[in-house]
Amino acid sequence: MAIKMDGLALAKKLKEQAREEAAQLRRRPGLAVIIVGDNPASRVYVNSKRKDCEECDYYSEEYALPETSSQQELLELIGELNRREDIDGILVQLPLPRGFCEEEVLLAIDPGKDVDCFHPYNVGKLTIGQPVFQPCTPGGVMELLKEYHIDPAGKRCVVLGRSNIVGKPMAMLLLHAHGTVTVCHSRTPDMKEIAATADILVSAVGQVGLVTGDMVKEGAVVIDVAMNRNAEGKLCGDVVVEEVEPKASYLTPVPGGVGPMTRAMLMLNTLTAAKNHLKYLK
Ligand code: GUN
Repeated sequence: MAIKMDGLALAKKLKEQAREEAAQLRRRPGLAVIIVGDNPASRVYVNSKRKDCEECDYYSEEYALPETSSQQELLELIGELNRREDIDGILVQLPLPRGFCEEEVLLAIDPGKDVDCFHPYNVGKLTIGQPVFQPCTPGGVMELLKEYHIDPAGKRCVVLGRSNIVGKPMAMLLLHAHGTVTVCHSRTPDMKEIAATADILVSAVGQVGLVTGDMVKEGAVVIDVAMNRNAEGKLCGDVVVEEVEPKASYLTPVPGGVGPMTRAMLMLNTLTAAKNHLKYLK
């Protein structure tokens, strides 16, 4: 029976550490969060980020732009926040409403304030093994593995999903940790067979019922990154828990696994940004 990996407890511990470290700085770390439009899921995420900042005793600002605002207005706001000395991190909640150019928006954020690690500069630094920031969700997964003394070195790691936010940076972090990494996606014909070879299986697809028992090797570590709603409207991941739990050695629950870790990593990145930023301020 798989051991449940407690992301909630580890996130709490990491946020406490962030708070203690932040208290040593000359001023509080500052995070600006921008939300455009009224996507209900985004609203929930943005509210939790404000709560996390309160818990860590960071300064935070929230900008809620109407869906009718323009790309130019959003870029101007980012420009202002880039120039602010009391703001260390800038996060634009994704997805943006139709009509906005995400690529241009992410490029406009000062790479030193890019606490999501989405700017091409930071993605490049990550890829060559010189990360400034940790991509929040994959970074959270790596912290969970570390906490449970699971070392990817020499292990067969399979990542399901190839998004810029999770799949690709996840593969990169596992590779840097010396795992042998395979990425499967919607065009992979034999995903089931490949998944079944994994010592560490990370699912980041967003499809209820995707990871069935036959896709999991006996004793594998299974990380469920997805946040789905099942037919009854309950939060669930990609993993069919009743089939996978008896086979896996470790499993992350949904909710309470990776989700809280993503949020904790954002707080750690904001602390990193503040430390770097304060170095250059008189
Ligand atoms: N939308 C879904 N995940 C994320 C995330 O990690 N950061 C931002 N900014 N938007 C998201």
